[in-house]
Amino acid sequence: MGVPFTRHRRLRQSAAIRSMVRETVLNPADFIQPIYVTFGTGVKREISSMPGVYRFSLDQLEEELKEISELGIPAVLLFGIPETKDSLGTSAFADDGIVQEATRLIKSRYPELLVVADTCLCEFTDHGHCGMVHMHEHNGDICGEVLNDESLEVLVRTAVSQAKAGADIIAPSNMMDGFVQAIRQGLDQEGFSHIPIMSYSVKYASAFYGPFREAADSAPQFGDRKSYQMDPANAREALREAESDVLEGADMLMVKPSLSYLDVMRTIKDQFDLPMVAYNVSGEYAMVKAAALQGWIDEKATVLEILTSMKRAGADMIITYSAKDAARWLKQ
Ligand code: PBG
Ligand code: ZN
Repeated sequence: MGVPFTRHRRLRQSAAIRSMVRETVLNPADFIQPIYVTFGTGVKREISSMPGVYRFSLDQLEEELKEISELGIPAVLLFGIPETKDSLGTSAFADDGIVQEATRLIKSRYPELLVVADTCLCEFTDHGHCGMVHMHEHNGDICGEVLNDESLEVLVRTAVSQAKAGADIIAPSNMMDGFVQAIRQGLDQEGFSHIPIMSYSVKYASAFYGPFREAADSAPQFGDRKSYQMDPANAREALREAESDVLEGADMLMVKPSLSYLDVMRTIKDQFDLPMVAYNVSGEYAMVKAAALQGWIDEKATVLEILTSMKRAGADMIITYSAKDAARWLKQ
């Protein structure tokens, strides 16, 4: 007797049965919506490379917050565009800094909406790097070196000021060594031992951040970020990055970008038992949006497929500029 062939299609014959055997289900409760906040008043300006995404001044934020909250999206991730930048990134840790003010506003209007504060310096430094820079001459050229330990102090001040303003989660994205330990200690010392750290543990030096740097006006003024962000060619190194963050006290781990790094996500998820965050970055959003606007792909189906792939790869949460759209589509 021959072996019968397997009829996989038995479980695919109707929407009802497909839904019963579905392994991965998206939910608006999985999403974190990034928001760009800027100084000034009366500003709601679309980012040209990210149609549908805006920079808001604080007085223009209400409608956006209302929409996010009504769609059942539990959290926002704040990025700030300050009025002034300097070499130290002073405006990152000012009590009346743009992220601090936005946090206060959001928590007063929507106390149940979680505010995740991105803790970095590149939006606030005039040189556009994520840490302190030491300039020097090398063979007649002016070079800049991004300093590690000197940067930690400023990052800790930034995280503490964000927590003081009411941030619910601190999300350091700077990729300095030891940033989780330093920020954990700093938060604990100031009475914020209850505030979790969502660490950008595995952050690659990626071309997919292009639109973000336009939006946040944070492109490095010299060099690139390859001396602190990871080499896209490396997967085993991601385990070392994640492990050190776990040991230093991270509460959640992130892999960023997402689409080209789903293999890394799966590995991190299998190796560590902390909640894992996928960051569906600006360039990933822009690619889909551009093709959709040309009528070349079905935007809804494509976005939901992409987000599903991130959850399938192990993400518990997804930071995505498509959060509002996806939440709306999921409710249909
Ligand atoms: C800041 C930061 C960046 C992103 C999040 N935090 C940019 C960078 O490292 O240059 C990228 C987000 C995106 O592309 O959506 N360090
Ligand atoms: Zn940065």
